[in-house]
Amino acid sequence: MIIVKSIEQLSHNPFKPPFALIPTMGNLHSGHINLLRLAINKNFNPVVSIFVNPLQFGPNEDLKSYPRSLERDLDVLKENNCHGVFIPEQEEILKNIENLNAPISDKLCGKSRPGHFDGVVTIVNRLFEVIKPEACVFGAKDFQQQLIIKHLIKEKHRHIKFLSAPTQRDENGLALSSRNNYLNESEKIEASLIFKFLSGMSSELKLLSRVNQKNFLSELKSIQEKYQRKIEEKGFEVDYLELLDPATLERFEYNSNKMLIAIAVFFKEVRLIDNLVIDLASSSQ
Ligand code: PAF
Repeated sequence: MIIVKSIEQLSHNPFKPPFALIPTMGNLHSGHINLLRLAINKNFNPVVSIFVNPLQFGPNEDLKSYPRSLERDLDVLKENNCHGVFIPEQEEILKNIENLNAPISDKLCGKSRPGHFDGVVTIVNRLFEVIKPEACVFGAKDFQQQLIIKHLIKEKHRHIKFLSAPTQRDENGLALSSRNNYLNESEKIEASLIFKFLSGMSSELKLLSRVNQKNFLSELKSIQEKYQRKIEEKGFEVDYLELLDPATLERFEYNSNKMLIAIAVFFKEVRLIDNLVIDLASSSQ
């Protein structure tokens, strides 16, 4: 496994093309490994960057306590046939950086985390520029992030192929995330209710769209409110629970049969996000 620690070293083209960049903030879990496997399956050499990006944390967020585990991360990557790793110094990455503004950042996570996606898109752009990958892999759990990166690619990096990896879940359905490390085992089981609620909502919405398509749009608000109440009753503080058009993050208006159910909650002071994209025309889950 090739380990590169500076942009200077990158200028000697250490990674073997075609390679796919998997940007991470470390503290790797099997969700990340899944991104790596997807790159390999699509015939790209996986290159993982590990950089806890200060630009994407708000002043009251967990930048200082964000879990860091570099030695373990490197072992895990090696065991999983990672081709290359880029571990830059903060100072070098941030020097003369071009600050970008993310689109659609007034919605969902962007609304409750002002500046977050500007920080993400600024760093990912920098990583694309210095690493010059042929492809990149992002996970579907961060749905809004995926849309923003696709937009960045369209605007500035058209040659980079975007690969999307499905959300990885634990055996109870909880979406894998580095922030799950803040929860103990029984809290993780409680937190898996989020996915159960999303799945329940999905079934109800699909059924309603089949039996009562005429009133479907007017019923959405009451379904949303009903599930928000149910979730809150279980001790979650709901940041948002929204039913949207997955292409635009605008309110769902039946422009297509695809609907995004997106949720963010605080549970034991940990912010957790999840989503499902459902096809209202299909009867399967
Ligand atoms: O998804 C993440 O871990 C981060 O937002 C990313 C893409 C590595 C940018 O810092």
